[in-house]
Amino acid sequence: MSLLPLKELMKECMNCTKCPLHNVRNNVVFGEGNLKSKIMFIGEGPGRDEDLQGRPFVGRAGQLLNKMLEAINLKREDVYIANIVKCRPPNNRVPLQNEVDACLPYLRNQVAIIAPKIIVCLGATAAKAIIDKDFKITVMRGQWIERKGVKIIATYHPAALLRDPEKKYPAWEDFKSIKNELDKSNS
Ligand code: URA
Repeated sequence: MSLLPLKELMKECMNCTKCPLHNVRNNVVFGEGNLKSKIMFIGEGPGRDEDLQGRPFVGRAGQLLNKMLEAINLKREDVYIANIVKCRPPNNRVPLQNEVDACLPYLRNQVAIIAPKIIVCLGATAAKAIIDKDFKITVMRGQWIERKGVKIIATYHPAALLRDPEKKYPAWEDFKSIKNELDKSNS
């Protein structure tokens, strides 16, 4: 897929039938936020609330993400938030490889439009799709890599923090590191 301007990209994505998830979605969750943001947060895929509202990270995990953003002085509207897959997998299962492969060109196009300096992968699915297919979130989270001038990091998905509060401390360390990197890119 060649790169499209935002409006056309959204239109194509909203009508997408490239993988079977389109049969079970209520809404496509394209992504939202500041198109001029230096930082992009990328999750796995819409959950129930997101599928119903057509917006990313609006359920419990999203509320936690909002608090974590506030804790590093970012407002939701300052950042751009998207997912690896734009349609909800049944019962929130992890997206299948064919679903990820079908959907990834939309995200790549979004990244090209927003041109962030920093990308934060929220959870293993995002890290595997973006950083390395063999990414191990417990081992490799919190480590910066750089690709084509973009700094990329993965941290725990907020839903994982809700399930296992012991992960909150390392995630907070990662968020402090993200703030530090963002401050550097602003100076
Ligand atoms: N989990 C995700 O990965 N993305 C969302 O948009 C919501 C929950």
